Amino acid sequence: MSKYSFDEIVSHLKSSGFVYQGSEIYGGLSNSWDFGIIGAALKKNIKDLWWKVFIETNPYNVGIDSAILMNPKAWEASGHLKGFADAMVDCKECKSRFRADKLIEDTTSLTVEGKSFEELDAIIKEHNIVCPECGKANWTNARAFNLMFKTFIGTLEDSKSTVYLRPETCQGIFVNFNNVLRTSRKKIPFGIGQIGKSFRNEITPGNFIFRVREFEQMELEFFCEPGEDLKWFEYWEKYCYDFVKKLGISSDKLRIRPHAKEELAFYSKATSDIEYAFPFTDWGEVWGIADRTDYDLSQHSKYSGKDLIYLDPETHEKYTPYCIEPSVGVERLFLMICCDAYDKEQLGEGDERIVMHLHPAISPIKACICPLSKKLSENAAKIFDELVKEFPCEFDETGSIGKRYRRNDAIGTPFCITYDFESQEDNCVTVRDRDSMEQKRIKIDELKDYIKERIEFK
Ligand code: GLY
Repeated sequence: MSKYSFDEIVSHLKSSGFVYQGSEIYGGLSNSWDFGIIGAALKKNIKDLWWKVFIETNPYNVGIDSAILMNPKAWEASGHLKGFADAMVDCKECKSRFRADKLIEDTTSLTVEGKSFEELDAIIKEHNIVCPECGKANWTNARAFNLMFKTFIGTLEDSKSTVYLRPETCQGIFVNFNNVLRTSRKKIPFGIGQIGKSFRNEITPGNFIFRVREFEQMELEFFCEPGEDLKWFEYWEKYCYDFVKKLGISSDKLRIRPHAKEELAFYSKATSDIEYAFPFTDWGEVWGIADRTDYDLSQHSKYSGKDLIYLDPETHEKYTPYCIEPSVGVERLFLMICCDAYDKEQLGEGDERIVMHLHPAISPIKACICPLSKKLSENAAKIFDELVKEFPCEFDETGSIGKRYRRNDAIGTPFCITYDFESQEDNCVTVRDRDSMEQKRIKIDELKDYIKERIEFK
């Protein structure tokens, strides 16, 4: 469905300061990426916008920032120590390791969702699947491989000092349920959100920053009365979809996919994914919305011995709230936004531009001030000094004006402002719009409001 290949988009993101290879001067580190001078700003803007829309301006929600390292009992309670594992097979010949489901799905037309380890072994045998590395068919049986990164607290490397890098941020929210109730004036229904790093030792990461081992999540745990949960599930599904639509993501590349019954996690009553048609796959999950019932609070009550229940102040009824969870990875949202924004336009014979049609609210730079000649730099710099107090700006006096426009199009700057010789007389500048390339003469006095109005998220 995408007009451009994934390689082309990735190449642009790497060459324009969005993403760098992690530890590049040492030859890199598998599946590790750094966000560059443009990408770091874009990522921060995405997170700030989420926080504004989901926490600050939503009437129900509050935000926290919990620790990455948690008491390991939390992971027993959540089921991650036991169940958070992929079925892996090793090639006995060349020692390569593969995820059994992926190996099967990549080499046959079968889908193996929900199959037991024994069933996966049988399929591998029956279809005589060979190792993609060495071509032999000599496999170990499928074995569980826990996806949590393990480390140690203090100097002793033993089981008593073992801790895990969190594989999801939501558990830090559940364990703080009572603290938030105690320190806020929230009543059910209400939500607790947070943004933070999570880690998963994925066996088959890939597709650039789509599946990475170190990533950031923006998760909301929304607590409601049992029986009200499906109503709130729909509310949050729509809320997330509207957020993505407002960012300007193409409708024909978006869909909401409800999970079939057999696909649901055992504790989930309903789950939907917002999916995007990435250039490397038909549909890829971006945002998951799940009705997690009372599973998490009940588990943490059981394992901690502390009641995580709600006392309704009006009915005096006690119950364990149900939870709706909209969860999204920042890197995936970033990648979807960039894939959707990327465009290449022919401007004339032999002339083309790469333009990132980013929503101005998340564009890393909102305006670039370009004096037409270096003789005009001093006056143009005064405009920069004023505007940069309000929003991120650049000042660019090098190269032809056309080149300066191209540089800014490539990173998604919505406005280029040209200060020319006439500006000294009429106190106006030319504002060039990134998407339409239209140019308008605007009074310098009105410039700040002109741009502010157009970079709002609305
Ligand atoms: N908390 C859900 C997830 O991380 O997938």
